[in-house]
Parts: sequence; C-alpha cells; structure tokens
Amino acid sequence: MAVLVTGGAGFIGSHVVDAVLARGDEVVCIDNLNSYYDPLQKIRNIQPHLDNPKFSFFCRDVCERHKMGELFDAFKIDKVVHLAARAGVRASIESPHVYTEANVEGTVNMLELAKTHAVKNFVFASSSSAYGPRIDPVFSEATIHADCPASPYAVSKKSGEHFCHMYSNLGNIPVTALRFFSVYGPRGRPDMMPYKTAALISLGYDVPIYGDGSTKRDWTYVEDVARGVLSALDNPRPYDMFNIGNSHAVELKRLIDLIENHLGKKANRVFVPVQSGEPQFTHADISKAKTHLGWEPKTSIEEGIAKFIEWFKLQRRPPQKALELDYQTWRFK
Ligand SMILES: NC(=O)c1ccc[n+]([C@@H]2O[C@H](COP(=O)([O-])OP(=O)(O)OC[C@H]3O[C@@H](n4cnc5c(N)ncnc54)[C@H](O)[C@@H]3O)[C@@H](O)[C@H]2O)c1
Repeated sequence: MAVLVTGGAGFIGSHVVDAVLARGDEVVCIDNLNSYYDPLQKIRNIQPHLDNPKFSFFCRDVCERHKMGELFDAFKIDKVVHLAARAGVRASIESPHVYTEANVEGTVNMLELAKTHAVKNFVFASSSSAYGPRIDPVFSEATIHADCPASPYAVSKKSGEHFCHMYSNLGNIPVTALRFFSVYGPRGRPDMMPYKTAALISLGYDVPIYGDGSTKRDWTYVEDVARGVLSALDNPRPYDMFNIGNSHAVELKRLIDLIENHLGKKANRVFVPVQSGEPQFTHADISKAKTHLGWEPKTSIEEGIAKFIEWFKLQRRPPQKALELDYQTWRFK
C-alpha cells in the first residue's frame, strides 16, 4: 500500500513526502524535474529519502499515460496526492499551452489511472487563483462560485477541479481539491515573491514593489499546507473542495519588512505598476477545513519567514566541492 505523490520533488511536494514518510507510510514519488526552476533544487529536496526503503523516486511526466500506468501496475497505489503542475500565474500568460498540457491533460491522466486502479482517495492541488479577482473580504468555497479565473494557470486549476468533480461521480473515487493560498517556506520556489525578494536584497538589486505595496496575500506556511494535504488524504470524501490558507492577509510592504529584518539588510524599493492577472488581495475563509478536516494553520508569518530565511541563507552558501549527479540513482557523487 503506497501513496503516490506527483510533483513530489517540488516545493510543496517534498514537504508532503516528508510528512507521509514521517508517519511510516510508503511513498512513490514522481516528478519530471522540469527546468521551470533549477532541477538540482528539486533533487536536493528528495536527497534525504533516497536510502529509505519506503521511498521510491521515478523521473516521469504525468502526461506519459502508459509509463504512469506501469507504475500503478508495479506498486499497489492506495492513494494519490496530485501536485505535479506548471505553477506561476505570470509565466502562464506567456506560455498557456505548457499549462494546459501539464495541468489539464496531466490531471485527466492521473484521474483516469486512479479510476481504473480503484484508488481509495485522490487529493488534487488547486489554487486560490481559481477565485479570480474579487471584492469579497474573504474567499469562501461555500459562497463564491469562482467562475472568472484571470490567467491560463487559474483556468487550468479551475478546469482540474471540474475534472475532479466529474471523476468522483463517473469514476466512483473520492476526490478532494485543495485551494492553496500563496505557500511559502523552506525549499520555496525561486519565482515566488519571498525567494525573489530575498535574492534581490542579498545581491543589492532593486526590489520591485507592485502598486503602492498595499496588495495583500494570505501567505501560508508550507508545513501547515502539508498537514492539510494529509488531513484530506485521511478523510476521503465523495467530492469536496477546501481552502487551505493562513486566513491572515499580509501586506506586501509588511512582508518585505520581515524579509529585510531576517536578512539583516535593507531593500532598495522601486515602485512599479501592478501586473495583469494578479488580484489586489487574497484571504481564505478556512472554517470549512476546520470543521470537516480538523485542519487549521499553526505558523504565524513572523515564525514562517524566520524559518524561510534560515533555509535561504544555508542554500545560497557555495558548495564545499563541485557536485556531480548520478542520473541512475539521483545521488550526488
Ligand atoms: N506554491 C504555491 O503558492 C501554490 C499555490 C496554489 C497552488 N499550488 C499548486 O501546488 C502544486 C505544487 O506547487 P509548488 O509550489 O510546489 O510548485 P513546484 O513547481 O515546486 O512543484 C511542482 C512539481 O511538479 C513537477 N512537474 C511539473 N509538471 C510536471 C509533469 N508534467 N509531470 C511530472 N511532474 C511535473 C515539477 O518539476 C515540480 O517539481 C502545484 O499544483 C501548484 O499549482 C501552489
């Protein structure tokens, strides 16, 4: 009995892998290690588990239906956490086809395999961007229809939710979609604001402030998100969808203050226009997840940014020796 984690070498995926292994379950981790950001960062994320007999890693693409089917045949896949996707709102506006392929076709492939192999639960990573730009003070799954996603990425996630709903009915498998709100923390994606800002400050470059710095995001600490995934995995539901957010919207300028404080260096702030496809604010109503999954976040933005910057400083240190990767075993020599 194993949990298949797709996108398991990525930022959130590697934390989910940690959490599933920590409680003693077997993990089959797949990731295509694409170059959206440095694949070596992804390989480093899973290094600590390569000697664990309960962990298997395969470099696979979720769009490769037959190769993915072979894995379902080779392992007794009990449950699926489907996180593999092209992430990033802005990049999706540049390359929409890449997003429909990985996020829509890839999700349909995974749902189809889950159906034919009668998995016991399927958890899908959706996104707060499915809500689109809103004037509601908080985003609630119960009251907002979320029918105006504003970027190819957001549409791909909304479409994934529709496929999840359909497969839960037609395929008769429990499926839960989780709408993650701006996830941050150690192993964070370099294209996301906390990492980009920390890197720009460290290098002494200008830090762009979109608008007047008053845009707000509901920043959610990655280990809280991984716990949310496990809660959904342990509570199969016919079809359901939950917000996974910190439920405290943080202003952009406040976040930059915190990053500056922990880096011990001031940002050179440069004000630029707000980018298209980006909402003015996000704020999760998490009452549904509290009631049905027994989940709530535990990490404040102050604690979370401190842990993120601690990791950021360590991983930016030059390696002691040049690292060479063995592509058979995924170990560094
Ligand atoms: N980070 C956030 O704030 C956030 C917010 C909302 C939703 N999400 C969703 O959570 C999931 C994980 O996001 P993340 O931030 O960890 O991003 P990430 O890019 O670090 O992780 C995604 C992983 O999936 C892999 N991948 C991409 N396409 C693949 C394919 N076709 N086949 C196999 N592997 C593939 C990538 O190599 C990567 O390692 C994604 O579905 C993303 O859309 C993330």
